[in-house]
Amino acid sequence: MLNYTRQLLALCCLVLLWNNAQAQTIKSPNGQLTLTFALQNDGVPTYRLTYKSRDVIKTSKLGLELKNAPSLTSGFAVGESKQRTFDESWTPVWGEVKTIRNHYNELAVTLAQAASGRSIRVRFRVFDDGLGFRYEFPRQAKLDYFTIKEERTQFALAGDHKAFWLPGDYDTQEYSTMTSKLSEVRGLMKSAVTGNASQTTFSPTGLQTPLMLKSQDGLYINIHEAALIDYSCMNLELDDKSFVLESHLTPDAVGDKGLIQTPALSPWRTVIVSDKAGDILESKLVLNLNEPTKFKDTSWIKPVKYVGVWWEMITGKSTWSYTNMDNIKLDSVDFRTVKPNGTHGANTAHVKEYIDFAALHGFDAVLVEGWNTGWEDWFGKHKDYVFDFVTPYPDFNVAELQQYAASKKVKIIMHHETSGSVRNYERHLDSAFTFMNKYGYNAVKTGYVGDIVPLGHHHYDQWLINHYNYVLEKAAAHHIMVNGHEAVRPTGLARTYPNLIGNEAARGTEYESFGGNNADHTTILPFTRLIGGPMDYTPGIFQTKISILNPKNNSFVHSTLVRQMALYVTMYSPLQMAADLPEHYNQHLDAFQFIKDVAVDWDETHVLEAEPGDYITIARKAKGKSSWFIGSTCDENGRTSNINLSFLDPGKKYVATIYADAKDAHYEKNPQAYTIRKMPVTRKTKLAQYCAPGGGYAISVMEAR
Ligand code: NOJ
Ligand code: CA
Repeated sequence: MLNYTRQLLALCCLVLLWNNAQAQTIKSPNGQLTLTFALQNDGVPTYRLTYKSRDVIKTSKLGLELKNAPSLTSGFAVGESKQRTFDESWTPVWGEVKTIRNHYNELAVTLAQAASGRSIRVRFRVFDDGLGFRYEFPRQAKLDYFTIKEERTQFALAGDHKAFWLPGDYDTQEYSTMTSKLSEVRGLMKSAVTGNASQTTFSPTGLQTPLMLKSQDGLYINIHEAALIDYSCMNLELDDKSFVLESHLTPDAVGDKGLIQTPALSPWRTVIVSDKAGDILESKLVLNLNEPTKFKDTSWIKPVKYVGVWWEMITGKSTWSYTNMDNIKLDSVDFRTVKPNGTHGANTAHVKEYIDFAALHGFDAVLVEGWNTGWEDWFGKHKDYVFDFVTPYPDFNVAELQQYAASKKVKIIMHHETSGSVRNYERHLDSAFTFMNKYGYNAVKTGYVGDIVPLGHHHYDQWLINHYNYVLEKAAAHHIMVNGHEAVRPTGLARTYPNLIGNEAARGTEYESFGGNNADHTTILPFTRLIGGPMDYTPGIFQTKISILNPKNNSFVHSTLVRQMALYVTMYSPLQMAADLPEHYNQHLDAFQFIKDVAVDWDETHVLEAEPGDYITIARKAKGKSSWFIGSTCDENGRTSNINLSFLDPGKKYVATIYADAKDAHYEKNPQAYTIRKMPVTRKTKLAQYCAPGGGYAISVMEAR
C-alpha cells in the first residue's frame, strides 16, 4: 500500500511539473502586473493576475459550455504560444485626452482539444493598468457553427472585497448602486431590485459589470468587458462563499446565449487594477481593446452641448403626447381632426423658445421629444407598429423649425423612442434616417423603454447587441451621431464607432424626478458605468424641488445646485445637456455662466483626488485652448477638498472663478445656496475648498490676459 501511495505521489509530482512547464507568464510593460496562464491536470485552462505581487485574480478557470456539443472547458493541450509587445499612440475623434497610448505585452495561446479535434485560442494583453483577454474561435471543420450554453470564465477574487454593485439583469441598469461587502450581496439583493419598465434579474447573487471592487488592503479592481460585438452581454454570478465570480451571459428568447459562426471572437474580459482609485478613472484599457475606427471621414462627428424639450415631460409639467386618447392605431388617426390635450411640449412656438435660448447662450443643439405621433399609448402595450419616426404631430412644424434653427445656427436633435419594438425600428430605419438628412438633423437620441418586441428577447442578448450596432452603422452611413438610451452599457465601442457619442445605460438624472438618486450616486458612476464610455447623464438641474414644476411630484434632486455644475467635468461626455428649463437658468445667470463656459472636449485630464462612494475631483484642459475646468462631487457627508493646481501650464497666470456651496448649503435642506468668487492662480496655488453634503464645486480657470 505504502509503495502504491509513493508511486501515486511521484506521478502527481510529475504531472505538476509538466503542467508548470506549461505555465506561461507575461508582465505589464512596467513590470507591476503578472499574468500566468497554465493548464490544470485535466486540461482545464486557467489564468492568474497579480499586481505588485498581490493577487488580483487568483487561479481562475477559462472555457465555454456549448449546447448539444462537448464543452470547451477541459481536455486541452497547449499548442502554439505567441508573445509580442505593442506600443502605439492614437488620437481619438473626441475624448478626455488628446492622445492615448496603447501599450501592452501579449500572449496568445492555442488550445487543442484532442478528443474533439477542435481548437480555440485565448489572447491575453497585459497593460500597466490591467488585463484584457478574449476567446478566439478559428474557422475549422469541427467547429463551424455552435451555440453557447454558458461562458465559464472565472474571476477568483482574493477576499470579501467591498463592492459597488448593481443587481445582474438582462434588461436594465437603471438601479441605484449598492455598496457592501461581497458576502452581503445576497442579503441586500431584494432591496436592490427596484421597479423598472423592463427588468429580468436572474440570481440572488447576480451582478452587472462594470463591477467596482476595493480589497481590504487597498487594491481597486474593476471588471468589465470591451468590444461587445455579435455576442451577448456578460453579467457575473458571485459565489459568495469562495468569492469567485463567473460569467453569466444574457440569454435570447429561447434561452440560448450566443449563436456563433467561426471564425469568431468573444468580447474582451477586462480587469483594471491599481492601488490608487484615480488610476481606475484615468484608465484607457477598455478603449484600447477596441478596434480603431474604419470611418475615413470623421469631420461630421462633433461634441454637442444641448438643451431640450425634455425635463418638463420627465417631471410631468408637460406631455410627450398631443392628445389624451388611448388605444390608437397609428394610421387610423388624423391628428389634425382631434382635440389636443393642451399640454403637448413639442409645439412649434415652444420649441422656438428653446432655440432662442440655445442661440443666446451658445448651445449647439435642442433635443425635442414627443414631436412624432404614437405617444398616446406607447408604453407597456408591447405594440409592434408603435411609431413610424416620420410623422409629426400637427402642432410641430418640421420644416419651419429646421429653418428657424438653421437661421440661429442651432441643430435640432432627433428623438426615436422605439418603445422596445426593435423590429418596428429596423423596418423604419432607412426612411427615418433619410427624413433626418432631408431636414438637417445630425444626431438622434434613441430609446428602448419597456420589454423588447419581439417578446422574449432581452435588451442585452446577442440579437439586440447586433441591433444596436446595426443602428450605429446605418447612422454612420447617413452621417448621424447616436445617443442610445436603455441600450446595452457601452464597452468602448466608440473607438470603432465614434458616432456613438452617448449612452444612458444607468440611472440618470431622470430618476431625480422618479423618487431620486442617492446623494453619493455621482461619486460612484465614473468608477462603474463610465468605465465603458460616456453617459448622457443630463445634469444641470438648478431648480431641485420638482413640485415647483409639477405640484403633484414631490421628488427632489439629491444634489446642491453647484454640484450639478461640477458634473460637467466629473461625468465625462462629449454630449452634455443643460437639462433644466430656461426659466430656471434665467434665475441664476451668474452660475449658469459656468455651464456656458465649460468645454465638452479635452486635451488633458487629471484626477486630483478620488474615492468611490465618497468624492471625485477632476481637472480638464479644454481642447485646443488654454482654459481649464475643475469639478468636484462628494457624498452626503460633505468634506473639504484639498487640491493643488500644479497641472496648470508653467509660467502662465490665470483667473479662477470658483462656484462653491455656501457654508449652510445642503443637498436636501438648502440646495441652492452658493457663492461665486474670483482669484488669480498659477501652478503653485493650493486650494482648500468646502463641499456641502451632497455638494461639490466647479471652477473655471482662464488664462489672464
Ligand atoms: C427614457 C429616457 O431615458 C428618457 O430620456 C426619455 O425621455 C424617455 N425614455 C422617453 O423616451
Ligand atoms: Ca432611461
